[in-house]
Amino acid sequence: MTRLDGQVVVVTGGGRGIGAAYAGMFSDLGAKVVVNDLDAEAAHEVARAVGGVAVPGDASTASGVETLVGTARSLAGPIEVFCANAGVARGGLEDVGELAWETSWQVNVMAHVRAARALVPGWVAQGRGTFVSTVSAAGLLSIPGAAPYAVTKHAAYAFAEWLSMTYGDKGVRVHAVCPQGVRTQMLEDSGDAGKALMGPSAIDPDDVAVALREAMEEGRFLVLPHPEVGPMYAGRAADPDRWLEGMRRLSASLPSSMMGERS
Ligand SMILES: NC(=O)c1ccc[n+]([C@@H]2O[C@H](COP(=O)([O-])OP(=O)(O)OC[C@H]3O[C@@H](n4cnc5c(N)ncnc54)[C@H](O)[C@@H]3O)[C@@H](O)[C@H]2O)c1
Repeated sequence: MTRLDGQVVVVTGGGRGIGAAYAGMFSDLGAKVVVNDLDAEAAHEVARAVGGVAVPGDASTASGVETLVGTARSLAGPIEVFCANAGVARGGLEDVGELAWETSWQVNVMAHVRAARALVPGWVAQGRGTFVSTVSAAGLLSIPGAAPYAVTKHAAYAFAEWLSMTYGDKGVRVHAVCPQGVRTQMLEDSGDAGKALMGPSAIDPDDVAVALREAMEEGRFLVLPHPEVGPMYAGRAADPDRWLEGMRRLSASLPSSMMGERS
């Protein structure tokens, strides 16, 4: 992979899991990594481990994004790569509480919109910049039992596509990372159904970072750390009714608890 010596890479939700793996991968490529997380201690720990800087805080609110981008710039320099990685997995059906829907919308979607708002004008002006969106296979294939997660991850994917189609010719690169299960705290917290569904094919966070690195090298938008997701996504588009039949069978086969609500 091309080295990123001295380039500034921001990773939200970088205190653990997939974000921490991104931080390590970018640091190995020579980047100056800015580690954000709601959990300040975790952000500092990862920043220390990768020789980067920590900017803890909420990466989803308008003021949180403004502070993150401003502090990252003043501590490290102009931001070349922004990884909108922080996410929340709220389970439940359509009747799950308003807070679960609202938190999912703010963290899984609006965080990306607000970061793009802060960064894209500068990237277009200089003709260069990279936006990495950690979506999920749930943004391509939905997921049983977790309506807020399924819906907001589709929105995150749609926003990443929209960014790429709008600014791709102006030098802005966008990557949408769509893994199935990854062995992190999020998977651990996903209940019996989550583990039954995603556990068997789960991969390590470092595998996701490698898949992202390869996609960046190739200039590829869609990052599929589980390659089998590609044909499933194509099957959904080709025959929605057949795909829905399969998803109903899958839902019926799972234990009833899924990603227990933790709002
Ligand atoms: N683990 C999986 O199976 C899986 C699969 C597909 C996609 N993803 C996605 O990958 C991303 C990372 O997930 P993970 O598995 O590493 O999760 P994780 O829960 O292990 O880590 C997420 C980190 O984000 C932080 N965070 C949450 N909200 C934040 C906010 N508003 N501002 C700043 N930090 C915040 C948390 O404190 C935590 O450290 C998420 O977007 C998730 O939806 C995960």
